Amino acid sequence: MTQFTRRDVVAGLSAIATSGLAAPALAQAAYPSRPITMVIPFAAGGPTDTVGRLIAQAMSADLGQPVVVENVGGAGGTLGAQRVAGARPDGYSILLHHIGMATIPTLYRRLAYDPVNGFETLGLVTEVPMTLIARRNIEANSLAELVALIRQRGENLNYANAGIGAASHLCGLLLMKAVDTRMTTVPYRGTGPAMNDLVAGTVDIMCDQTTNTTEQIRAGTVRAFAVTTEQRVAALPDLPTSAQGGLPGFEVSVWHGLYAPKGTPAPIVARLNQALVKALQDEGIARRFADLGTAPVAAARATPEIHRQFWQADIAKWRPLIQAAGQFAD
Ligand code: MLT
Repeated sequence: MTQFTRRDVVAGLSAIATSGLAAPALAQAAYPSRPITMVIPFAAGGPTDTVGRLIAQAMSADLGQPVVVENVGGAGGTLGAQRVAGARPDGYSILLHHIGMATIPTLYRRLAYDPVNGFETLGLVTEVPMTLIARRNIEANSLAELVALIRQRGENLNYANAGIGAASHLCGLLLMKAVDTRMTTVPYRGTGPAMNDLVAGTVDIMCDQTTNTTEQIRAGTVRAFAVTTEQRVAALPDLPTSAQGGLPGFEVSVWHGLYAPKGTPAPIVARLNQALVKALQDEGIARRFADLGTAPVAAARATPEIHRQFWQADIAKWRPLIQAAGQFAD
C-alpha cells in the first residue's frame, strides 16, 4: 500500500487548488447564500422605507434569500450611507437612498465616508413627486392663504423635516426661498415620525413625497396645498401644482437608487441589478407605486451605468446651488 507523508498531502492539495480541478468542490457557495441587508437611511414608516420594503420583498423572491430592511436613520441620511460605504463589499449590504446622495457631497464637508466614490451603483428605482402639507386645522385653505400665513407668522411656524440633506429639507429651503420667509425647522430621523407629529398637530407644515402623504391626504388627516411637480399626480387629481396655486418655480421631485459598497465584484453587481430590474417590472409594485403617486423607472434606465451618470450629473447640478446658498451641515 502506498504511504503518503504529510508533505505529500499538502503538496497534493495545493496542486489541486491551483489546477482548478477542485473548483466545484472548493468553489464559494453561489451568491447569495445568506440574507442580504438593505439599509434604509431614514426611520421606518417614511417614504424611503415604503419604497425600500416593496423593492426588498420583490428582490428576495428573485434572489432566493431574504432581503432584510434595516433602518439606520439620522443626520439627513448620512449615517445609513456611512454604514454601507464601510461594509464588506460582498453583496450582503446594500443601500436604498434618494436625492440626498446628490446633495450630501456638498452639504456635508466633514463625513466619515466618501460620499462620491464610496459606492457601486446598482440602478435607479423611482422618481417621486412631493406635496406641501400642513396639520389639518392650519389657518389656511389654499396655497395663497398658506403663503400669507407663513409671511405673517414666520419663525412661529414649525416646519418638520428629516434633517439636512433630506428631501423634505430641500423642499423646505425652496419653499422658504419662494415665500422669502424663514420658519423654524424641526428635524426628525425620517418623515415617518414627522408625519405622526403633523397628524397630531404638534408641528405645522411639511413637504414630503407622495409615497408618504397620499394616504394621509385622502384620509383628511392632513391638509394638502400643492404638488411640487409641473403636472398634477394621477393619485391626487384634485391637488393643484405649485404653479397653479400661485408659486411658479417651487418644483422638486425625489429620485431613489440602489447602491453597494465600492469594490463589490462585478458579477454580484450584475446579479443585484438583475433582481432590481425584475422587481421594477413586478405588476404588484407598479400598482402600489401608482397608488402612491409614483412609478418604477423603466427597465432600460435601471442600469448601473445610467444610475452612475445620473447621480454624478445631479451632484454637479446641486453643488453651485448649495454653495451659492452658503448653507452647510457643519
Ligand atoms: C426625506 O425627507 O428625505 C424623506 O422623507 C426621508 C424619509 O424617508 O423619511
